Amino acid sequence: MLNKIEVAKNSYCVGKIDDRDVPFHRLMLTKGTTYNAYLLDTDKATLIDTVDISFGMEFVKHLETIMDLQKLQYVVINHVEPDHAGAIGALMNKAKNAIIVTTELGKKFLIGMFKIKEDRFHIIRDGETLDIGGKTLQFFETPFLHTEETMVTYCIEDKILYPCDQFSTHIANYELFNDLAKEDITEDFKVYYKLIMHPHRPYVRAMIDKIKNLEINMICPSHGYVLRKDVQKYIDLYDELSQVELSTDKKALIVFSSMTGNTSKVAQGIKEGLVEMGVETNVVNIKSADLNTILDLAKEASAIIIGSSTKYGDMIGNIEDTIKEIIKLDLSEKLVTAFGSYGWSGEAIEIINDYLRNTNATLLDTSYMIKATGDDHIKLPLRVNFAPEEQMKAQCVDTGIAIGELLVK
Ligand SMILES: Cc1cc2nc3c(=O)[nH]c(=O)nc-3n(C[C@H](O)[C@H](O)[C@H](O)COP(=O)(O)O)c2cc1C
Ligand SMILES: [Fe+2]
Ligand SMILES: [Fe+2]
Repeated sequence: MLNKIEVAKNSYCVGKIDDRDVPFHRLMLTKGTTYNAYLLDTDKATLIDTVDISFGMEFVKHLETIMDLQKLQYVVINHVEPDHAGAIGALMNKAKNAIIVTTELGKKFLIGMFKIKEDRFHIIRDGETLDIGGKTLQFFETPFLHTEETMVTYCIEDKILYPCDQFSTHIANYELFNDLAKEDITEDFKVYYKLIMHPHRPYVRAMIDKIKNLEINMICPSHGYVLRKDVQKYIDLYDELSQVELSTDKKALIVFSSMTGNTSKVAQGIKEGLVEMGVETNVVNIKSADLNTILDLAKEASAIIIGSSTKYGDMIGNIEDTIKEIIKLDLSEKLVTAFGSYGWSGEAIEIINDYLRNTNATLLDTSYMIKATGDDHIKLPLRVNFAPEEQMKAQCVDTGIAIGELLVK
């Protein structure tokens, strides 16, 4: 069923109610869900998000019955997953004058998925505004909620936040607004948060920081209920549930060897991320520590992260002797992974990885991280070309955060 329900003057929910059992992210949504798109029928008519790909054509036909698609100026895509961007291919074919408003990465993914032409995009930067003729939209990049390209849209005049997946619930609700719900939806709202957002909680905190100064009278998400009652309660729930508790019992050990300090910088970056997640982390340069100290630290660590730069196709110094001793320990409850700075081949990283693969520890590699995080931004083992520059430094910190997430889970 497709609807057209007013959420504010000239703004409508035009979504699809999907009351089947919906398979999603290896789960079955037994209460169904909705795909809420929003039409802001201003002088420069704007659509915010679309619906699931299986209802794409139906959605476009429905839109044609309620508006002249040639008048559609903007299609804001907050998140490219095909349960929201699913109609974009069909829509851009019909709405010849429409431009997609999204993040740089959103554009890349949409071109990859739907082969949309480069010139049909307007890329937004964090905090930027867009006049849509009678209303003003403001965009905030909120990466990793729950995929890397995500953003939220705020309508300044209506004081409405359009956050797509964020603040959603998986319920096939026929009464759109939360104050009309027959039952308390708090539990469903929390379940959704835990499944979809909680694995990315440091990013939830960053998002809350960005929206905290906005006056928000209503939240129009893309699944389930529009929140127009107790709005602050729902924002506070995200705030409360995403607080990272300091995990005092989990420790990590980073052991490395380096010639000119590049691998040391990688180690410090990983440490920074782990510490941000509340994991007590020891960083040991093999040059200045004795084996017994390292083994004691390894025994009490829940994650052991071993790095070396590469010199003539091999590891640096005597780190191999240390690795041989570490892998004799019982590693069954531990997470392990390798890293290193390199110039052109980085064999050392791969050799360390081989040692770790042949233990009873859980080896963190790219495949493992994709399944654990739901995206592919953490590549393990972590290979850094020469000294980590700004972006790579951030990647090292993100790696530490991701490993920390696994430890505090
Ligand atoms: C003598 C020497 C040999 C090197 N051999 C390799 C090599 O075989 N493969 C490679 O990828 N990089 C090689 N490199 C590049 C280093 O791995 C690279 O400079 C790295 O960033 C050094 O990191 P570090 O400061 O942690 O030692 C070599 C560098 C030197 C000085
Ligand atoms: Fe999603
Ligand atoms: Fe979604």
